[in-house]
Amino acid sequence: MTALYNSAQQHFTNGDDVAGRADLRALIAADPHDTEALALHAIRSHYAGDTAAVGDALTRLGGLDPAMAAGTHDRFAPKTVGRARDNQRMSSSVLADVVGALRRAGCVFAEDEAALLLDAAAGDQHRLDALVGQRVSGTPLEYLLGWVEFRGMRVRVRPGVFVPRQRTAFLVEQAVIATTATRVCMVDLCCGCGALGLSATTELTARGCAVELVAADIDPVAVACARENLAALHAPVFGGDLFDALPGDLRGRVDLLLANTPYVPSARVAQLPPEAREYEPLVALDGGEDGLDVFRRVAAGAAQWLAPGGRVLVEIGAGQVETACAVLTAHGLASRVARSRDHYATVVIGTP
Ligand SMILES: C[S@@+](CC[C@H](N)C(=O)[O-])C[C@H]1O[C@@H](n2cnc3c(N)ncnc32)[C@H](O)[C@@H]1O
Repeated sequence: MTALYNSAQQHFTNGDDVAGRADLRALIAADPHDTEALALHAIRSHYAGDTAAVGDALTRLGGLDPAMAAGTHDRFAPKTVGRARDNQRMSSSVLADVVGALRRAGCVFAEDEAALLLDAAAGDQHRLDALVGQRVSGTPLEYLLGWVEFRGMRVRVRPGVFVPRQRTAFLVEQAVIATTATRVCMVDLCCGCGALGLSATTELTARGCAVELVAADIDPVAVACARENLAALHAPVFGGDLFDALPGDLRGRVDLLLANTPYVPSARVAQLPPEAREYEPLVALDGGEDGLDVFRRVAAGAAQWLAPGGRVLVEIGAGQVETACAVLTAHGLASRVARSRDHYATVVIGTP
């Protein structure tokens, strides 16, 4: 079976998507639970514009969160790629070399990543060689670029900090679309690099809403990165365990509490793509036995910190909805669930 998988990769390297996908279909026919083949088939079908095949592969992935299984699929926005492709500095033969190197390393988004790495190297061949070498050895693309695009903004990321996923844009969208006030107090709890607070504040401010933003995270590396991202907004970033990190005067004043808590069940962490499990800190991924340990603690504290009419918004896995709603109810919060098929995202929203 490994031979067939390698053959598929070789076909993709040669640009023969039809043959590559045929190999993957043969693998899936032999083992309908081959998650590696299913995930790659979903991605390559996405590139081929075969939405029916994408849906079929993701459905067969079943219990796995499809976005999680697709791995890097969720990690950078097509808009970013488009801009890099337009880069006039790019030479097609250098691009082809880089694409080939990335493909041989098993990089499923080789074309897109090559364009971004060429852009980052800015014509410096030594720098390009170093970037490609690191990428081939597994370093996540976003750490090499130093940024990720999130809701149309470039957000700085540092090695060791969780890379914001594209699906989390849906949480921000839910926070922003339902906000009609002209002044809000917002907390980005478990902020990582601060992408949620940064994008939500930028979007609300552009609409004339005055935002008081405070962010917090337990990981000092994340706190330092969020401080860089939020400096222009003059938003303070605190280090510490959930609500313990926040200034007491926020108690009862928070209109929007955004929290992308870690929600991967401990036993599933080993199934995450290597870029997550080998490079991102466990504290950012592991949500305990059912994935909801940190969520439970956020839910337990939310009512004390929310203002009347305030909302707590938390991203969860599709299979965690029932438990998450029950937890919010147990802590005196009304719950609502928002789902996005486009982003494979699920957000639970609690109000006092
Ligand atoms: C899934 S990451 C999300 C980061 C960021 N919000 C994003 O979406 O890019 C979860 C974050 O929660 C932080 N975290 C985990 N446990 C925490 C705790 N007890 N208190 C505060 N932050 C915590 C991790 O350090 C990590 O940055």
